[in-house]
Amino acid sequence: MLNRLVKKTLSISAIVIAIIVLGGFAYIEIGSNRATPITDFSAPFVFGQFRVPEDNPLTDEAVELGRRLFYDVRLSGNNEVSCATCHRQQLAFTDGRQTAIGVSGKALALNSMSLANLMWGPRHFFWNGRVTSLEEQALVPIQHADEMDQSLAELVDELKADSQYKSLFSVAYGRITNENIAKALASFQRTLISSDSKYDKYLRGEATLTEQENLGRKLFVAHPDVKASLRGGNCIDCHSQFLTSGFNTLYDGFSNNGLDSEEDLLPGLEEVTQIRAHRGLFKVPTLRNIALTAPYMHDGRFATLEQVLDHYNEGIKMSSTLSPLIAEADNSTKGVVTQASLNLTEHEKTAIIAFLHTLTDRQFIAEEKFSNPFD
Ligand code: HEC
Ligand code: HEC
Repeated sequence: MLNRLVKKTLSISAIVIAIIVLGGFAYIEIGSNRATPITDFSAPFVFGQFRVPEDNPLTDEAVELGRRLFYDVRLSGNNEVSCATCHRQQLAFTDGRQTAIGVSGKALALNSMSLANLMWGPRHFFWNGRVTSLEEQALVPIQHADEMDQSLAELVDELKADSQYKSLFSVAYGRITNENIAKALASFQRTLISSDSKYDKYLRGEATLTEQENLGRKLFVAHPDVKASLRGGNCIDCHSQFLTSGFNTLYDGFSNNGLDSEEDLLPGLEEVTQIRAHRGLFKVPTLRNIALTAPYMHDGRFATLEQVLDHYNEGIKMSSTLSPLIAEADNSTKGVVTQASLNLTEHEKTAIIAFLHTLTDRQFIAEEKFSNPFD
């Protein structure tokens, strides 16, 4: 029944998307240049609507250019570090480190983030949400002293000296400028869509989950309700819907998931909004490809998914900004609780981990279009 509904809605949405895409991009002219609109670009309807900025439409040339830039070490001051140094395709665009290391060789404070389905979820980027577009984001690591440490003026000069970049920029955007470098990187990253995991195939009616995976799925999507004998892991309350990332309305995609107690809370979102109630809130990351993106959390403190589940089940630290969705989620029937705990069984925790593994998308990490064009 669900599958039939999914299929039906899929075909309707495919038509709708086709109309949007074809209608919106009948042709694209930037200055005197004509770039090729991407006409077959579509996304699973279950992800919801997506938006591409009007002043940076997706074109073949922009995406190709962005891909080159993403993998080009010339974006760093010492010509050794590219975006892909910290965002490796085979790790769903993370780096496998607890915290990232760039040109300075000094460990950064934060864990590098997976880059998938970036057109959905919170409209704020970085763990504390300090930028609001991919265009704005792209120039940050390039100039950051510990990440890529490159001056934009120097980068523009280096790219101008390369005839291939000259012609790519010319068709995609016109001139080689900071702004157009950022736009190209953003365009490439918008195409990083992961939607072919076992879970996606299950949603499309092309695969069945094992009993354990299915138990994990049910726990993932349920908020526990002892009175109704409903056991739940509560995950979808924050890792929302099919995307498993945070909500996109204002700051709803940010939460304090109980990693630290009051005195150890980092500012998090508070640094951006200056609102005290936002202390210790971080971006709810996507869980797609999560089995590939260890270590976990903004500071990479957990090495395994087992540790993550132990955290949610019995490691929650109380603080004034702890999400109420976590504080009150409890599967125990034993009355008064003093410590926030899910009280899931070992069997249930293992099932949730099995479900998380169904979010791995082998197609995504093997996709030629996302790989290093210099290889
Ligand atoms: C030295 C490692 C490093 C390099 C190089 C690097 N990144 Fe990152 N990236 C990170 C880290 C760490 C974070 C999280 C930082 C934060 O929250 O402040 C991040 C976050 C991001 C995000 C935000 C994702 C989200 O969901 O909010 C995007 C997008 C991104 N990087 C793209 C890029 C691009 C494009 C480049 C190249 C221009 C690049 N990165 C270079 C380590 C790196
Ligand atoms: C109240 C909201 C909330 C709930 C409920 C929640 N999470 Fe999270 N989750 C977050 C936030 C916020 C982060 C990032 C926290 C940080 O790094 O400071 C996160 C991070 C994670 C990470 C690490 C992701 C990464 O890329 O490092 C995993 C894995 C995870 N959650 C799994 C789960 C599972 C499984 C459940 C259900 C048992 C769950 N979450 C319930 C908000 C939530």
